[in-house]
Amino acid sequence: MATAPRPDAHCDGSVIDVRRVVCPGSFDPVTNGHLDVITRAANLHDEVVVAVFRNSNKTPLFSIDERVELLQAATSKIPNVRVDRFEGLIVDYCKANDITAIVKGLRAVTDFDYEMQMAQMNYNQAGVETLFVITNPLWAFLSSSLVKDFAKFGGDVSGLVPEVVLERLAGRLIAD
Ligand code: PNS
Repeated sequence: MATAPRPDAHCDGSVIDVRRVVCPGSFDPVTNGHLDVITRAANLHDEVVVAVFRNSNKTPLFSIDERVELLQAATSKIPNVRVDRFEGLIVDYCKANDITAIVKGLRAVTDFDYEMQMAQMNYNQAGVETLFVITNPLWAFLSSSLVKDFAKFGGDVSGLVPEVVLERLAGRLIAD
């Protein structure tokens, strides 16, 4: 695994192996937009690790175990996808798991500034590359937060999230 790159990095004929990549996120919960990015990453790379971020500063709707379980169910038909979890920096997770590149979805220009900064920081600090998949316009408006907000007030989010999430959302919001 590379450490911080020199400005002339990769001009020496060395090749970065991107057979295994990571799709990191909170996935609270996984949406059809996430699945679009994960599926397309799985078509482009040998192995995709979906890494669920545990952020101790936030209280998610779904616990880390539930988010992992829902992702496992939603990606069960994609053989080269596995689901894991992480805390701390994504670049440390990459280093520990021999991963050289992060794959992320870009929905709109509003995502771009922050994602570019994060990608540059991750490359500067650890030489980890970030590859972007442009979200299918079908899902350009979609986010986990909007799904939760609409579901909470009785909105119909079927067609926006996998069936397992829909069922779990219904149970959770009725119970709360
Ligand atoms: O689904 P989200 O909440 O948009 O995912 C954001 C996530 C988890 C991908 C991002 O916050 C992240 O990579 N967090 C890990 C902590 C980290 O490495 N932060 C520094 C990035 S420069």
